[in-house]
Amino acid sequence: MNIGIPRLLPWLGLSLLTACSGNYDGGTANNGGGPTEPTEFANVDEFYKARVEPTMSYCVSCHVSGGVADTPEGERMHLSTDRSQDMALLRASWEAMDRNNPVSRILLMSSGQADPHSGGSPWPQSGNAYRDMRVVLSCFENPDQCMQRIAEAGGGVTPAPQPLLGSNHGSSFSERYCEGP
Ligand code: HEC
Repeated sequence: MNIGIPRLLPWLGLSLLTACSGNYDGGTANNGGGPTEPTEFANVDEFYKARVEPTMSYCVSCHVSGGVADTPEGERMHLSTDRSQDMALLRASWEAMDRNNPVSRILLMSSGQADPHSGGSPWPQSGNAYRDMRVVLSCFENPDQCMQRIAEAGGGVTPAPQPLLGSNHGSSFSERYCEGP
């Protein structure tokens, strides 16, 4: 009973061609992800160390005693080259500039929303640095809601792979043919 096969071959070839050139991309969804930054933090200090401290190096280059920003217009943002002091000094600076009221001057100045800033606007409102600093400042203000804010800024959580993709069950011959190299 193989009389039908030769007649089916041209159709089979054509349908495989179209199937493979279509945007069947089930094999590439969620493929890996690679190393991701830590997304879980036990407290605000861990969050600060991982997400915020690295972005502060730029600010430290001017906002220290005797630095470019040690002026009447810049001195309330006061950091130190002793980086172990970062968080305490950030907090003192935040308090000196009226806290969040409603958005901290630290965020306004670094994102270009306030007075002209010799340090430019390295933390645009849409960026991660802005988001993460806002979390830390909101933790200063409301320690009770801190972990929730950190969770909201979690970002890069990789979605669980969808179990149906890649399964042979219910897929057609042409789909299976297209898998592999
Ligand atoms: C190139 C030097 C430079 C860098 C880098 C810099 N700043 Fe500044 N910043 C200044 C100066 C100078 C002033 C004073 C206003 C002016 O003349 O621009 C200032 C003012 C400020 C103020 C207002 C302080 C006050 O007393 O009211 C804040 C807040 C601030 N900067 C935050 C930051 C943050 C956050 C960063 C890092 C993302 C940063 N700055 C990076 C030079 C710098």
